[in-house]
Amino acid sequence: MDAITMLKADHKTVEKLFKRFEKAGDGALKEKRAVVDEIIRELSVHAAVEEQVFYPAIREAVDDAEDEVLESLEEHHIVKWVLSELDGMDPGHERFDAKVTVLMENVRHHVEEEEQDLFPKVREVLKRKALTDLGESMDVAKRVAPTRPHPRQPDEPPGNIVGGVAAGALDRAREVGKEAVAKATSRGRKAAGQAKATTTGRASSTTRSGTRKRASSSRG
Ligand SMILES: [Fe+2]
Repeated sequence: MDAITMLKADHKTVEKLFKRFEKAGDGALKEKRAVVDEIIRELSVHAAVEEQVFYPAIREAVDDAEDEVLESLEEHHIVKWVLSELDGMDPGHERFDAKVTVLMENVRHHVEEEEQDLFPKVREVLKRKALTDLGESMDVAKRVAPTRPHPRQPDEPPGNIVGGVAAGALDRAREVGKEAVAKATSRGRKAAGQAKATTTGRASSTTRSGTRKRASSSRG
């Protein structure tokens, strides 16, 4: 996929999540937390891919893109700080909605600048083949990119590539760990439920016989 098409598709995904957040009612805390978790993941990966591959490439290739890229890096920086504050924040906190609102304003402004000013400049200079090659590199970067915000880490090569791969591996390991814990917990709950049902069943049958109940309770 060509690099710009890929970034625009990311922008659409994020905008859909923003709309979902805006539609969620005040009391829909679980939904808001889930949407914000998805926003954090999408934006963290998207920012890393732009910073590791797209921005350095266009700084090289496009003569007058320098100022826009530098501005974009600063915008990403602010967005990552807000994301890091939202990460793990109680959705019932009085500052939660306000923080998401400011995040959305920042991202929408950033997306508008990229789509209206930066991308057309890039399309003028880079041919279709170059944009497809760039897209392929971005696709590779996407698979190992950090899934959580790391505002203190370098955002330019080579620091962001080395740090990004390490952070990406840690973030992904954490996600796998979280899933494993969730699965184990739900398996545990299920097993506990079944055990309870069996015990209750046995208890009622032993109560009828009278003697086995006393014997099992004395074993503790
Ligand atoms: Fe961006």
